[in-house]
Amino acid sequence: MAHPFEKEIAKVRQNTHTISPLIIDRWSPRAMSGETISDEELMDLFEAARWAPSSYNNQPWRFLYAKRDTSLWPLFHNLMIDFNKQWTQNAAVIAVVVSAKNFEHNGKFSRTHSFDTGAAWMALALEGSARGLVVHGMEGFDYDKAKKDLDIPDDHQVEAMIAIGKHASPQILPEEIRKRETPSTRKEVKTFVIEGKFKKN
Ligand SMILES: Cc1cc2nc3c(=O)[nH]c(=O)nc-3n(C[C@H](O)[C@H](O)[C@H](O)COP(=O)(O)O)c2cc1C
Repeated sequence: MAHPFEKEIAKVRQNTHTISPLIIDRWSPRAMSGETISDEELMDLFEAARWAPSSYNNQPWRFLYAKRDTSLWPLFHNLMIDFNKQWTQNAAVIAVVVSAKNFEHNGKFSRTHSFDTGAAWMALALEGSARGLVVHGMEGFDYDKAKKDLDIPDDHQVEAMIAIGKHASPQILPEEIRKRETPSTRKEVKTFVIEGKFKKN
């Protein structure tokens, strides 16, 4: 379903400079229906991540995931703080995003492993959003527990979690979370872009 706040979203999220609608139309709702998404569609989203750019084309991103109603679900869901546990219970898939710290070709540390993996998550988020899915990033979970419970080796870094699912009406959310189901805006470009050397605003 289209998000019921679609018009409100468009009012709040207004670009100053010209961009593709794909970018501004992506946002992070929490209301999801609990419906499944097909394995094919899920792999389509990971395919989007696949085409992200990375230093030396090292492709350091790894996505570990669990689908609802599978035995893997509690392993992933239990990693989260209570706030995120509440609204993600209606996600179709939850994933932990991990990055490989070292280059495959020479074993040396890649200083951009997180940067590259961030690009991959964003590609996935844009693809999901373009298909009318919710794709919502999270840092509210236990990183150490994720590393331990999911057997993530020391040369890999846990970056974030993602909830993926189908939109639902915000009415399904508990009051306290529903209040936060509003689109956000952004700082102006001039506040973070500098021609020349770094200077504080
Ligand atoms: C790395 C990352 C971690 C986040 N952690 C959480 C989280 O733990 N819980 C949550 O509800 N939202 C989380 N968010 C969502 C952000 O709050 C949201 O992306 C931000 O407010 C901008 O809003 P928008 O995505 O709707 O444009 C996270 C987003 C990112 C990218």
